[in-house]
Amino acid sequence: MFLSLKFSVLAFALQLAGVLAVPALQPYDSLAGLTRDEVDAFARSVKVVGGQPIPKPIKDTSLKLVNDKKHPWKPLRAGDQRGPCPGLNALASHGWLPRSGVATPGEIITAVQNGYNMEWFVTYAAFLVNGNPLTNLLSIGGISWLTGHAPPAPALASGLNTHGTFEGDASLTRSDAFLGDNHSFNATLFQQLVDISKKVGGGKYNVAAAAEMRFQRVQDSIARNPNFNFANPRFNTAFIEAVFPIVFFIDGRLQEKGVTGLDLEVMRGFFEDHRMPKDFHRRGTPTGASDDELDFVMAAHDYTPGFNNGSVNSFVPDPNFMGTQTELVCALYEKFVNSTVALYPNPHGQLRKALNKNLDNFFVAVKDETCVQIKPYN
Ligand code: HEM
Repeated sequence: MFLSLKFSVLAFALQLAGVLAVPALQPYDSLAGLTRDEVDAFARSVKVVGGQPIPKPIKDTSLKLVNDKKHPWKPLRAGDQRGPCPGLNALASHGWLPRSGVATPGEIITAVQNGYNMEWFVTYAAFLVNGNPLTNLLSIGGISWLTGHAPPAPALASGLNTHGTFEGDASLTRSDAFLGDNHSFNATLFQQLVDISKKVGGGKYNVAAAAEMRFQRVQDSIARNPNFNFANPRFNTAFIEAVFPIVFFIDGRLQEKGVTGLDLEVMRGFFEDHRMPKDFHRRGTPTGASDDELDFVMAAHDYTPGFNNGSVNSFVPDPNFMGTQTELVCALYEKFVNSTVALYPNPHGQLRKALNKNLDNFFVAVKDETCVQIKPYN
């Protein structure tokens, strides 16, 4: 791949200057196969920002208009990235995140607070496995020039669309990767969600609808996806994501009046068009996700963490689901740390430093639990 005949402007200029005696890459190319010196040379050819401190929490966490004059919805431009997460997509399409869909973890943390009053546990997990630690940038969709040269393989730095690290199977409105497009809005699945919401949610997406949709999506993946994976982290994220729309997409003014179901047109706006409804107010209190709703969805049906064994309807429990941990949240933390190590088995220099900073930041999100920090590179 690195023998690409096309020269990036920057690498070409550097080569002319005799600075960089290595083959020119496109910004999204991997550095696989290059020597350590060559990788270092490339690291110098991109703006290395590295790991940064976690931004301070926003001060004003009140109920607030967020689809305001400064943050109008705008259509996508060529190259703008959107992906499997309706929450982040809408923040980008309203300018709370860079409209390009390429952002730093700090920008994501501040944007989810500003836009939805959301706490940010998953941000560094996603960044570690899907972002570029050298440039400190993550695409909320697919591979983008803007995130800079990818670190050496097996690292990917290929954005949230990447299947199997964070993005996973049995999503509400996105297909399983094995069955098709894992990141774009799927109208058939949304119609299924609408039908379920009409049947059990009184025409709204509420906890009853979330519980039923979650269950049916899992059953469908067991029956049609031989590679279906419902182990860690997907066993956790799939439930949390099912309740996010109820916790964060219901207008804060309605939530204060006790409304617990999300209007389906509003939901479609977020999920399909990355669009907040007119006059949208965020919720009035910060939260990660509501435990009550989560417990309801998880308890509504029997679930076991596991996977299909290479053929459909062959679901088996994952014996290693908890790793070396006893608490679920610590098992999730350990899983993301292990995934990071699998992608960066032997980092050095600025890359190692950046990874360590982001691993420290990730641990901050779980340090109030009983988890012990894992330091793979110290
Ligand atoms: C804090 C940073 C966030 C990151 C890194 C993130 C990342 C992701 C990823 C990778 C997925 C795809 C998982 C999959 O279905 O396979 C996803 C799905 C989802 N996210 Fe986010 N997300 C974030 C914040 C949010 C916020 C703030 C909201 C809501 C306000 C949200 C709502 C959702 C929903 C509802 C889904 C499920 C979509 C579906 O299944 O069709 N997320 N997110």
